[in-house]
Amino acid sequence: MSLSVVVLISGSGSNLQALIDQSLEGKLDIDIKAVISNKADAFGLTRAQQADIPTHFINHKDFPTRDAFDSKLQNAIDEYQPDLVVLAGFMRILTEEFTRHFEGKMLNIHPSLLPKYKGLNTHQRAIDANDHEHGVSVHFVSAELDAGAVIIQAATKIDKDDNADSLAKKVHTLEHKIYPLVIKWISEKRLAYKSGKVMLDSELLPETGIRYNQDLN
Ligand code: GRF
Repeated sequence: MSLSVVVLISGSGSNLQALIDQSLEGKLDIDIKAVISNKADAFGLTRAQQADIPTHFINHKDFPTRDAFDSKLQNAIDEYQPDLVVLAGFMRILTEEFTRHFEGKMLNIHPSLLPKYKGLNTHQRAIDANDHEHGVSVHFVSAELDAGAVIIQAATKIDKDDNADSLAKKVHTLEHKIYPLVIKWISEKRLAYKSGKVMLDSELLPETGIRYNQDLN
């Protein structure tokens, strides 16, 4: 049976699109049950509607507290009983209760080589630090921001003439490769999460996850 997934977004949804495309091409055995956004104008909602995926807009501004919003969000996700919750550019800090509820079942993609550059403006920060490489990480979500167990990282060289926009483009290309790949491993039951540790094909992954290369499948 296909892996059932709920995707959370706040913006463009290009990572969501990569999942939709790979699923339509038969490369990824997932069933995207719903896409939920906290922003009404998120383009990802249009992408979902074009693919006949049910969408929900839950405005965090309608809730008096972070707890109240997260609890509404949790209920909306639980309605679908998904195997996996995928954060794809969902720009909210989550409560500990919410993250505990989905422990081991919720992924995030973060545009840096974690543990470097948690939080925002990662591309500019990597340039400002004169780093030679930059990249992206996929990790399980824990209560602490961008700090859950890392599954995979993909890196790209920072060239002298790179700016935050050009670097973001390079990183996005990598994102669209590694996010579907990780979700494929989960759908094939090759990836397991146990108390903050990640196993791929029964092998314990290092703290920074596996390094992406073209041959991984
Ligand atoms: C990506 O850069 C991702 O790493 C970050 O948010 C961005 C989402 O992009 N978490 P998109 O909405 O999938 O195009």
